[in-house]
Amino acid sequence: MMKSRVSYVCQECGYDSPQWLGKCPECGMWNSLKEIKVASVKSQILNNVSRQSVEPKRLDQIKFEKKQRMLTGFSELDGVLGGGIVKGSAILLAGDPGIGKSTLLLQIGLKMSMGKEKVLYISGEESEEQIKLRAERIKHSKNDSNLLLLSNTNTDLVCDIITKTNPALVIIDSIQTMESENVSGLSGSVGQVRYGAANFIKLAKTQGIPVIMVGHVTKEGMVAGPMVLSHMVDTVLFLEGEKFTSTRILRSLKNRFGPVDEVGLFIMESDGVKELNSPEQLFLSKTNDGGVPGSILAITMEGTRAFLIEIQALVVNSKIPIPRRVASGIDYKRLELLLAVLQKHCNLPLGGMDVFVNVAGGIKLSDPGADLSICLAIISSFHNIKLSNKVGIGEVGLLGEIRRANSLEKRIKEAQRLGFKNIFSSNKFKTLKEVMASLTK
Ligand code: TYD
Ligand code: MG
Repeated sequence: MMKSRVSYVCQECGYDSPQWLGKCPECGMWNSLKEIKVASVKSQILNNVSRQSVEPKRLDQIKFEKKQRMLTGFSELDGVLGGGIVKGSAILLAGDPGIGKSTLLLQIGLKMSMGKEKVLYISGEESEEQIKLRAERIKHSKNDSNLLLLSNTNTDLVCDIITKTNPALVIIDSIQTMESENVSGLSGSVGQVRYGAANFIKLAKTQGIPVIMVGHVTKEGMVAGPMVLSHMVDTVLFLEGEKFTSTRILRSLKNRFGPVDEVGLFIMESDGVKELNSPEQLFLSKTNDGGVPGSILAITMEGTRAFLIEIQALVVNSKIPIPRRVASGIDYKRLELLLAVLQKHCNLPLGGMDVFVNVAGGIKLSDPGADLSICLAIISSFHNIKLSNKVGIGEVGLLGEIRRANSLEKRIKEAQRLGFKNIFSSNKFKTLKEVMASLTK
């Protein structure tokens, strides 16, 4: 007999309480605790475990098996995963709506199912016809692919079908649309998401079928539903990028079978997602080679990879009492701080000027190693100095000092590899004032 217990779970953060509370003590949300029967799920899992003989082992008794991996057909993705999808692993692919998760997964499904491997793509969001239309759009709708489509949202039924078809890979798009009658709550609620994920992960582990689950992201950038989902899976991947630019960056936020600082670069085109193996030119604006004042190159680190990007600034006289500061691609507060440093330590009279800063290519920059380039772009625009083919690498401190950026050697090497010799970095200059003096003399 399965015991059933009632628990109250916060729909925002997954906090679990034995009694109902008006306010969640974990995340502070009001009225977010909902009654959920959780014990039936737990006891199922426990029953399975207790049936096996459970005994602790000494380290030398444990046989080391090299994890079997499957290649996805995208080397960028394989790199992020640490060499392909590990058999029996559970992967969560999170990202904003419309960023290209379903497209990427459908392409993976199509690529992997070209051989003998069966791939099962379960969609709770689109009908089979819609998926077929998308497959046609990405020009891969060859009939010889072994991709099986199913449009369904019933967790238990989907589990049965996975067991029956025994595919090489299962794709669930998305975990928030899956629901079961065994748990109370609508699809997307903590209980449903948790139940669905627990069952799919159990299948993955017991049958060795890797499962990729899509997870939607809330406005705050968290994986919607319970945070517990990211603790349950082996790998959490995040697909990010601006909706209106075509660059997509795939990061691993957690990976039990590989590195967490790798990134994969993709570009969204009208016929699907393509990988970008040589991203050098991507983030540079096509029209400007640095021949116009207000532009400089920077080398930024994404995980362990170094990229060349272009930073542009425009400084003009302001006609309004409080001048505008517009930052696109960098943090607004960071821009204000750098402007204050430029004003104080480089005597740049920016008080009455509008300042606009933009990172070309539409990427978001949080790397402090780009500080120096941002300052140089502003100086360049203010003084009308061209900084063609120059690269800045370094953090700027509140005292106007230039600090060493992390992975400086790697960044310099990348700049040199791309043929840039004129590099401003903490190796050559100690303060921002020195750099400015070298430009304006
Ligand atoms: P989608 O994969 O549905 O996003 P998600 O599953 O993350 O919500 O992608 C939707 C967007 O991608 C949509 O705006 C159309 C665009 N798109 C392309 O640009 N090229 C393509 O080949 C496809 C299929 C979609
Ligand atoms: Mg989708």
